[in-house]
Amino acid sequence: MAYDLPRSARIIDIQRETPLVKTFVLDTDIDAQPGQFIMLWIPGVDEKPMSIAGMRPLTISVARVGPATSALHDLTVGDYVGWRGPFGRPYRLDTDRPALLVAGGYGSAPLYMLAQQALAHGMDVTVAIGARVADELLYADRFEQLGVQLLLSTNDGSRGVKGFVTDAIRAQFLPDAADDAPVISDPDAEPPHGTSTRSLSLYACGPEPMLVALYKLCRANGWSGQLSVERYMKCGFGVCGQCALDDVLVCIDGPVLTLDQLEAKRDFGHFHRGPTGRRLEI
Ligand SMILES: Cc1cc2nc3c(=O)[nH]c(=O)nc-3n(C[C@H](O)[C@H](O)[C@H](O)COP(=O)(O)OP(=O)(O)OC[C@H]3O[C@@H](n4cnc5c(N)ncnc54)[C@H](O)[C@@H]3O)c2cc1C
Ligand code: FES
Repeated sequence: MAYDLPRSARIIDIQRETPLVKTFVLDTDIDAQPGQFIMLWIPGVDEKPMSIAGMRPLTISVARVGPATSALHDLTVGDYVGWRGPFGRPYRLDTDRPALLVAGGYGSAPLYMLAQQALAHGMDVTVAIGARVADELLYADRFEQLGVQLLLSTNDGSRGVKGFVTDAIRAQFLPDAADDAPVISDPDAEPPHGTSTRSLSLYACGPEPMLVALYKLCRANGWSGQLSVERYMKCGFGVCGQCALDDVLVCIDGPVLTLDQLEAKRDFGHFHRGPTGRRLEI
């Protein structure tokens, strides 16, 4: 039951993925769906939301960004952590349409399970990963081994398309698109460019500026979209109100939100709440 007290688990394997990210494998299993998360307790430090990257055994990939994640990175095989979950609303696969999975930062982790699920349904799967430099492209090798179509982009051009992940997506799916394409808010409307991409479903996880760019790309091209949004969390199950994004509680209404759920949200792309609950600029 997701609301139980934390259970303890031993770290049985640690893999270095990128200069910032390590993968931790725990000696426990979990039943979850792609996009859901756990609250991970780092003993004596803090409890933080982490996406589920693998279920059997429970696996997470964590970027070192502050006190809690640094303390976790300093743990070794054999050390114990605590966890509660799974929490949150997962991605819902649209099995009738080709899937475009888009990852930035640690976003490859939750999308890995989604890619496996989509392939099991026999779907056409493209995974686009963006990073600043080549060695920060998280899970590129793992996705390659799954057999998906891979689109890579780096800001410095050290691997894949030079620029943002949206540039790689445009080059692949919208080669003839004008940058000032009109915004279409009706997902069933005809796409503006006469492309054959009307039926794409986009699933994304990454930094909020990337999600905002993808939201606009989806709206401009009539694609459906599900975006995993990050907010500072304390309880993880709808009690504390810390994770509010306008009238949405990201821990229970999300973290995966549809384009319609994000429509006209003032906070999306602009504000989040810090540890005290104060609204802060993103
Ligand atoms: C549903 C969900 C799933 C997540 N999954 C993962 C995952 O799989 N892997 C992973 O590495 N991280 C994940 N995160 C983010 C992770 O929880 C934070 O990076 C972590 O809490 C940072 O803790 P810290 O003490 O190390 O750093 P802090 O000192 O808390 O933060 C360091 C920096 O990151 C910013 N920050 C911290 N938390 C957030 C937040 N929630 N939203 C925006 N900015 C924030 C702070 O403002 C600060 O600038 C997830 C977050 C959510 C909400
Ligand atoms: S984290 Fe407490 S309500 Fe969402």
